[in-house]
Amino acid sequence: MNPLWLATRATGEISLVLFTVVTVMGIATTKGWASSRWPESVVTLLHRNVALLSVVFLGVHIASTVLDGYVPIGWIDVVLPFHTSYRTLWVGLGTIALDLTVALVVTSLLRRRIPPTLWKGFHWTAYLMWFVAVVHGLGAGTDQLLTRVLAFAMTAAVLAAVVARTLTPHRQDDPVVSVKTRTEIRR
Ligand code: HEM
Repeated sequence: MNPLWLATRATGEISLVLFTVVTVMGIATTKGWASSRWPESVVTLLHRNVALLSVVFLGVHIASTVLDGYVPIGWIDVVLPFHTSYRTLWVGLGTIALDLTVALVVTSLLRRRIPPTLWKGFHWTAYLMWFVAVVHGLGAGTDQLLTRVLAFAMTAAVLAAVVARTLTPHRQDDPVVSVKTRTEIRR
């Protein structure tokens, strides 16, 4: 079996699982779900570092896809959605997920320099990015059984976190709210 193709498949699955963990952790940080064993600072740090790790796996997923050369996917197809002739719709969705990931990473790195509402607005697209990536994996992937089982488990995890988030009352010290409040106080 071609090692680059294997790398594409393995890193695709790994990055998707890691993005799911990041999404659930992100929800946990906004609601302050912490315990003595898992203090909030640890959850926040893990959220950031797992996000970086998933981006690394995503980079390998994309590089191995293009370098493999077996299917007509070039570097331009990596950033321009629906440009490739290979599984145009499904790979195009992967490209959209990547573009959203780049926007999320850039706005997070610039978080202290941009208005909190702008950062938060972009961060909401994390749900869309995750969903689009799941659909991409289901449509573009070869290992249908593994991808379907994982997609089911990951969707259940994110939905459970969203429901728990909705049922948890708003925190007074929501990071975005507090930055906003501090800015207003300074004015
Ligand atoms: C956030 C972005 C992305 C995630 C999370 C992701 C994840 C995945 C997953 C889980 C699979 C299924 C692997 C399997 O066969 O078991 C897959 C397949 C695939 N992905 Fe992505 N992907 C992303 C972006 C991209 C991009 C930007 C490209 C290239 C332009 C791409 C190209 C492919 C290809 C060609 C396959 C099919 C591999 C095969 O033949 O099995 N992906 N991806």
